[in-house]
Amino acid sequence: METHIYQPSEIKAAAEDIKRGDLVAFPTETVYGLGADATNEAAVKKVYAAKGRPSDNPLIVHVSGIEAVEKYAQPLSDDAKRLIKTFWPGPLTIIFKLKPGALSKAVTGGLDTAAFRNPKNQVTIDLIKTAGVPLVGPSANTSGKPSPTIAQHVYHDLKGKIAGVLDDGPTDIGVESTVLDMSTDVPAILRPGGVTAEQLRAVLGQVDDEKHHVAANEAPKAPGMKYKHYAPSAQVYIVDHDDDWQRVRKWAAEQSEKVGVMTTDAILNHVQWPDNVEPFSLGADVKSASHLLFKGLRHFDDEPDVKSILTEGFKADGLGEAYMNRLNKSAGQMHFKINK
Ligand code: TXA
Ligand code: MG
Repeated sequence: METHIYQPSEIKAAAEDIKRGDLVAFPTETVYGLGADATNEAAVKKVYAAKGRPSDNPLIVHVSGIEAVEKYAQPLSDDAKRLIKTFWPGPLTIIFKLKPGALSKAVTGGLDTAAFRNPKNQVTIDLIKTAGVPLVGPSANTSGKPSPTIAQHVYHDLKGKIAGVLDDGPTDIGVESTVLDMSTDVPAILRPGGVTAEQLRAVLGQVDDEKHHVAANEAPKAPGMKYKHYAPSAQVYIVDHDDDWQRVRKWAAEQSEKVGVMTTDAILNHVQWPDNVEPFSLGADVKSASHLLFKGLRHFDDEPDVKSILTEGFKADGLGEAYMNRLNKSAGQMHFKINK
């Protein structure tokens, strides 16, 4: 199958693909998603095949407003309505109990709930409206690889397997949405993201922010939490925010292989790196670092001589919580301090 790169002016053609049951990747403010008609089971199944995604990992249903949620979910609480009013469109995915049989098992992974999100990207909102159906949309990467933040990442992973990619340039935030479970008594964050725990507490009061730290012997609440994630070919190590980069320089200089270093400019420009270090800038702060993390990890997949990537860690609060969640998974929890 030829994979078409659609410009924002070609939304109509992309919507035709969706209506026909084909897959089109779409831009959002977080990462690119792999879109299919959420009401067409055969189309949804193609998403799992294209990504190589385990079939028990449910998908987010992307909508253009609260109406689609009300169509499929059980009546919304006042808290739920307030959340939607405050954070949509935006990087918050909300899990609600479904009306029985409202969406196919291919979407829900057999759960009695589904995750909904109204992305903040006009091109994709127009795509949903033009297609006239909600879109399932996992991140548009091969399962296990870093999520795509530019259309070219999607094309790299999925060319020949999907009908098209709607290109709207680089995504803004760079890490995926916050996933909040509203199907339980106390709302719980299952994945930290662009909307922080503090912001949610300001609207809801009590929010459980512990569930996304899953111990090895515990069953994860979001099925996707148990799989290997965001992993480039090289081994990633976290350099903790209080660690000493001169130790990193010294260690790198002793290696016979190339070493990737991903850090903010203040560090990158103030260490005398040896010749075998390949630097990648994460910009100025945790915001730019979140925007550039997946791009950097993918960059080193094009440098096969780089066998390890040392990446700056930040304090895990605010957006830093989302950044550290992704970096920890990508590193398989490996820290420079412990291992070197
Ligand atoms: O920012 C994002 O959320 C992106 C863009 C494309 O919207 N999408 C995304 O989708 O990251 P995905 O499939 O890569 O991650 C969705 C996460 C998975 O961890 C999945 O297990 C969880 O949400 N999830 C989906 N439905 C669920 C449900 N009913 N109950 C619990 N977890 C659910
Ligand atoms: Mg994903």
